[in-house]
Amino acid sequence: MKAITFVTQKGGSGKSTLCINLAIAAQEAGRSVCILEMDRQATISDWAEHRSAATPEVAQIDAPQLEAVIKNLAGSAYEYVFIDTPGVDSPGTLSAIRAADLCIIPCRPTPADLRAFKPTLAAIYRLDKRFAFVLNQTPPRSYRIRDAADGLAVLGVLPDVNIVMRNDHQDAIGLGQGVTEYNPKGAAAEEIRRLWTWIERRTQASLESRTTEKLKKGIKNVKAA
Ligand SMILES: Nc1ncnc2c1ncn2[C@@H]1O[C@H](COP(=O)(O)OP(=O)(O)OP(=O)(O)O)[C@@H](O)[C@H]1O
Ligand SMILES: [Mg+2]
Repeated sequence: MKAITFVTQKGGSGKSTLCINLAIAAQEAGRSVCILEMDRQATISDWAEHRSAATPEVAQIDAPQLEAVIKNLAGSAYEYVFIDTPGVDSPGTLSAIRAADLCIIPCRPTPADLRAFKPTLAAIYRLDKRFAFVLNQTPPRSYRIRDAADGLAVLGVLPDVNIVMRNDHQDAIGLGQGVTEYNPKGAAAEEIRRLWTWIERRTQASLESRTTEKLKKGIKNVKAA
């Protein structure tokens, strides 16, 4: 099981929206996913209440519960656990980064957003975690996106797809759906599917590199014995 944490202290950048939409896209791609919501604002629990389908399972948890919950889930049939965090610094945020195989940092192409993720990134570096930025709520095309993308690409990994500001995102959430369910042929759905493909590849890559490290260590130990 792999944990993907959606994190940045900047409120409203799209953590919960991306968490929901990517969870649905992952399910549609055949993955079993559950969502842990660590934000008392309960955006995702509210969404789940409006939802007619039973999956993905959504559970609200507090920081002290996270480690034990992740341990239990490791033995479950879930392939992915998505963790949504609040838009303020909290003990939960740090534990959610610690639990992650990959951290997703949503960021709007605005100077305020581009400044606000710095403490998040510092925590991710300290805990030596894999991460990727996702440019969200972008205009369809603008020099702002290019400038933001250039800046983010220097700092870390950036997918080959941006998530454009589209009504589908707001309408789908109101109905308890993901954009890929609400308007499967729409541009928002297409972007989210591409983003999930990219993220899944990146998550697999992180596992592979860890396996390789483990193998290397194992081989070294065998040689030393
Ligand atoms: N790509 C998008 N297109 C249109 N609207 C969007 C998009 N992404 C997010 N939104 C809208 O922006 C608002 C904030 O998004 P969201 O709640 O996902 O942010 P958040 O980072 O989880 O916020 P918080 O830090 O408060 O938890 C919501 O109203 C959501 O519908
Ligand atoms: Mg949120």
